[in-house]
Amino acid sequence: MRVGSVALVGAGPGDPGLMTVRGLALLRRADVVVYDRLVDRRLLREAPRARRIFAGKASGDHALPQAQINALLVLHARRGRRVVRLKGGDPFVFGRGGEEAAALAAAGVPFEVVPGVSSAVAAPAYAGIPLTHRGLASSFAVVTGHECGRGRGRVDWARLATAVDTLVVLMGVAALPRIARELIAHGRAASTPVALVRWGTTAWQTVVTGRLDGIAARARAARVEPPVVIVIGDVVALAERLAWFAPTAPAAAAYTANG
Ligand SMILES: C[S@@+](CC[C@H](N)C(=O)[O-])C[C@H]1O[C@@H](n2cnc3c(N)ncnc32)[C@H](O)[C@@H]1O
Repeated sequence: MRVGSVALVGAGPGDPGLMTVRGLALLRRADVVVYDRLVDRRLLREAPRARRIFAGKASGDHALPQAQINALLVLHARRGRRVVRLKGGDPFVFGRGGEEAAALAAAGVPFEVVPGVSSAVAAPAYAGIPLTHRGLASSFAVVTGHECGRGRGRVDWARLATAVDTLVVLMGVAALPRIARELIAHGRAASTPVALVRWGTTAWQTVVTGRLDGIAARARAARVEPPVVIVIGDVVALAERLAWFAPTAPAAAAYTANG
């Protein structure tokens, strides 16, 4: 029997056009596709004959536990199948791709990793926000907001507040009031511009902007919900001139107007 394999493939941030050429080639010849919630369904049409398995997770709502996903990948590969594990953005950026790769390595299953365009860079780009900009920002950090104030491996907001010019926060909507408070308390200017890019790169993209000291209230008023990339830093102001992307979904326009 043919030895199977697994490709951990980054599907990009939403716009299917941002999928890599390598990822698409693997998808087209896949026997099994295990995909996440944030993966654009149009990409699945590229694998019409493949068995498709939804493994998606919404915040706090795990469709399949991680251990089960790992076991599924190993099982199908051992049955000789070409498995594509299609993950939103980049598999190794808050995607638990490392855990899946570790499980495959431990099981002796051949695997490869196809990087994807992470929402951490793509959502700001589609909102007209360069993460670095000569004279304005020469560093950026990507962090999770999920662990704000909690447990092991948590982000050190006190040090981060002034350590880098631009901060990109994934999974940070729920903790936004706390994040803003922490950053201001540790030296970030209250007037720092902030952008919340929701469903970045998609036809539903919306952007809510404000100052660090007022962004949580704005987010609440606009009922901003995940998925959101939070961008904090002076570069956010550039969006006034550089916003180029016009989302086409009617809901997006209405949402921005209310925001
Ligand atoms: C579990 S993380 C996965 C990140 C992914 N691996 C990546 O590289 O983009 C999910 C978070 O990514 C962010 N995200 C993913 N896609 C997004 C999009 N199209 N627009 C805004 N945020 C997005 C949100 O912060 C969301 O809560």
